[in-house]
Amino acid sequence: MDFRGQVFLAPLTKGGNLPFRRLCLAHGCTVTMGEMAYAYQVMKRSKSELALLRKHPDETCFGAQIAASKASDAIPAGLAAVERGASWVDLNCGCPIHDVVKRGMGATLLQRPAHLAKVVAEMVKAIPVPVSVKIRLGWTESEQNASEVAKAIEEAGAAALCVHGRSREQRYSRAADWDAIARIAAERTIPVIGNGDLLTWYETHDRWQASGVASVMIGRGALIKPWLFREIAEKKAWEPTASERLGVYHDLAQKMKTHFRDDEKGKERAMRFLPWHFEFFCRYRPLSAENFVESAKNHPLMQTRFDDRETDLPTLERLLRDPRPELHTRLSELLWLAPDAASAEASALALAVELPPVEGQAGEVVTAHG
Ligand SMILES: Cc1cc2nc3c(=O)[nH]c(=O)nc-3n(C[C@H](O)[C@H](O)[C@H](O)COP(=O)(O)O)c2cc1C
Repeated sequence: MDFRGQVFLAPLTKGGNLPFRRLCLAHGCTVTMGEMAYAYQVMKRSKSELALLRKHPDETCFGAQIAASKASDAIPAGLAAVERGASWVDLNCGCPIHDVVKRGMGATLLQRPAHLAKVVAEMVKAIPVPVSVKIRLGWTESEQNASEVAKAIEEAGAAALCVHGRSREQRYSRAADWDAIARIAAERTIPVIGNGDLLTWYETHDRWQASGVASVMIGRGALIKPWLFREIAEKKAWEPTASERLGVYHDLAQKMKTHFRDDEKGKERAMRFLPWHFEFFCRYRPLSAENFVESAKNHPLMQTRFDDRETDLPTLERLLRDPRPELHTRLSELLWLAPDAASAEASALALAVELPPVEGQAGEVVTAHG
C-alpha cells in the first residue's frame, strides 16, 4: 500500500456502501475505504458490522475503518478486516457523534494523545498490514491539538495520517482549514492525507500542491459526483447532461441489484440506500473552472455552491436537482425497475409531468458524521 500520490475515497457511513464504491471504481477511483465499523460489534460477530468490512474483488486497494476506544477491541477488529482482504486498517479519531464519543471512541481520542499513541502502537505490532489514523484538527476550534496528536501517531508507528481540516465542534459549519493541514504535513515524515471540501478537479490539485500533502481524500464531492476521481486524474471536467447523470444513477441501481439481489428483499435493502444517495446527487452543479475558479478560492465552503439562480431548466435537469425526499424515493424505484438507462429516462420524464416543480434549492450538505 502506497499512501503517496493517491486520491482516496473517504470512509462514509451509509454512503460508502459496496455498490457505491464500485460505482466510484468505474469512474476512476483506485483507493477505497469502507464504512466505519464498531470494533466491539465486530468482536460480537455482528453480521451487519462484519458486512462493513467486506470488500469487492475489484477493490484492490481497500482500507477498513474501525472505531475503538482501546487496543484490545481495535486489534481483533483489525484482524477480522485483514482476514476479509483489507489492504490497511484505519482507526477513526474524528467521528463527532455523541453516541460514539461518549464511549471513548472517535474524536474523544484526540483529547487523550498518550492513550491514542498506545492504542496505535499496539495495533501496529499486532496487525500485519499498515495502520493509518484519521483525525480532525481538535475537539474545538480553540483546542486544536492536531500537531501534538499527529506527532504521537507518527511516533507510535502509524503508516499514514489523514487530517480532516475541521474541529469536532465545527462539524461542517466552516470551510476546511487547509493551512492547518499544510502545517501538519510539513511537521511529519509519514504521508499526510488532506481532507475537506474538495469538490472539483481544479481545487483538488490546487490544495494538494499548495498544502504539500502526500495524498488527498474525497468525501461529499464523491457523493455528489462519483466521476470526480476521473476528473482529478485527467485534470479536466466532465459536465454530464441530466441524461448522462441518470445513466450513472441507473448503473448504481444495477450494482445494488447485483449486491443485494434482484428480488423483493433485495429491493427493500437497496431502498435504504438509493433514495439517500439522491440527497447528494441532487446537489450536482457543473461549477466549471472558467466560471468558478476565483469564487472557489474566496468561498471554499461547500454549502455555498448550490444556489439555484437558473430558471427554465430542462425537465430532466429540474427533476434531478429536486431536493424532495418523496421524489428521491420515486426516482430510486424507477431506476430499480428500468431494464436500461433509456427506459429509466422515459419513466423519469413521465414522473416529472406528474409532479409539479418545487421552488427553492437543494440546501446544505451537512451531515452528522466525520
Ligand atoms: C455521509 C457521511 C458519512 C461519513 N462517515 C464517516 C465515517 O464513517 N468515518 C469517518 O472517518 N468519516 C466519515 N465522514 C467524514 C468524511 O470521511 C470526511 O472526513 C468529511 O466529510 C470531510 O470531507 P469532504 O469535505 O470531502 O466531505 C462521513 C461524512 C459524510 C458526509
